[in-house]
Amino acid sequence: MNHPSKGVLRTPHAYPASALPPGVQPLARPTPLLKAQSLAFLMFEKPDLTACETFLTDFGLHTVERNAQLLLMRGSGPQPCIYMARRGRRARYLGAAFTVAGEAELALLEERAGARRLTPGEIPGGGAGVELTDPAGKLLWLVSGQREPAPLPLRPPLNSDSNCYGQLRRVNRTVRPPLEPAAVARLGHVVVQTVDFATMADWYMRHLGLIPTDVQYLADGSPNLTFFRLDLGDTPADHHCFVLAGGIEEKYEHSAYEVVDLDALGQGQNVLRANGHRHLWGIGRHVLGSQLFDYWCDPDGMEFEHYTDGDVFTASHETHYVPLELSGIWAWGHDVPASMGVKKDLGTVFKIVRLLRQGSLSLARLKLLGRAMGTPRPWL
Ligand SMILES: [Fe+2]
Repeated sequence: MNHPSKGVLRTPHAYPASALPPGVQPLARPTPLLKAQSLAFLMFEKPDLTACETFLTDFGLHTVERNAQLLLMRGSGPQPCIYMARRGRRARYLGAAFTVAGEAELALLEERAGARRLTPGEIPGGGAGVELTDPAGKLLWLVSGQREPAPLPLRPPLNSDSNCYGQLRRVNRTVRPPLEPAAVARLGHVVVQTVDFATMADWYMRHLGLIPTDVQYLADGSPNLTFFRLDLGDTPADHHCFVLAGGIEEKYEHSAYEVVDLDALGQGQNVLRANGHRHLWGIGRHVLGSQLFDYWCDPDGMEFEHYTDGDVFTASHETHYVPLELSGIWAWGHDVPASMGVKKDLGTVFKIVRLLRQGSLSLARLKLLGRAMGTPRPWL
């Protein structure tokens, strides 16, 4: 009789910065120019604003403004905008906007970092702001004083009403979450891939005051992926608002939007499926950040994540170091789709050859990256 082969169950190790294993290099943290307060909105260029608006409405966002050249969308929270798209020839990610405390921070960035002053009309919700360009050519806006609209109504979370074994909280009542788009409360994080991880990590920590929450390292001990959170002192901040992953191109990976609870995630999936959108991955639970997730593709194939139940940390929480493996990104759920890893096609070969020729990637590093991405499942 044949028995199914048994997998090896294992949980990735995480080492606090104060107890690093030999050979693991700590991520150097520069003195920041300022501490950003929140991730405000993301900026895209899109050829078809109507198609984007349709997808994002089904995804749970609300239109603030749309004309021939501009699309602004908000969540249900008090932020005036969490998604901005300008009409253009290509579908591409332009950059991110964070909020800062006020004019002093903006003036400092003009003086010390050569930032360009934005006009209030350029900023959704008005206020003041400056524009920087990161080492990979993407925009970073720092804004302050946007007008906050009243929040939109959200249904209360169902978590406190859950029946668990030994904890009956719902008696003579049922669970009937409404079948509607997963109302997005707010923008949570953006993930980008970069060729020069060390330079980009230093630049973003310097200009936003970010704290590395979890640093993932290659087999030679070098940091190659970091989940960064805001430094809000004793106020809890999301495990990550910005993630940098070392790789073979400068690329938007995905952005993530918080919904009220697991039922919103599931009912939102029904709505997106019913309206013919392309599902990518989920529902599952991440390891680093712990979020329950569900990934979707917008009309141009760009990735958007719904999430709920993520970790939060205050500034005092110690940075942790974790070996980088593809399998380390989820605790349970379906296998990560091949499209989220490195594409095995001619385009990838050309990119790698170009990087090797330019000297921006070594063969040794390429092998390490390949090894890290070659562990496809949490239980193998
Ligand atoms: Fe994410």
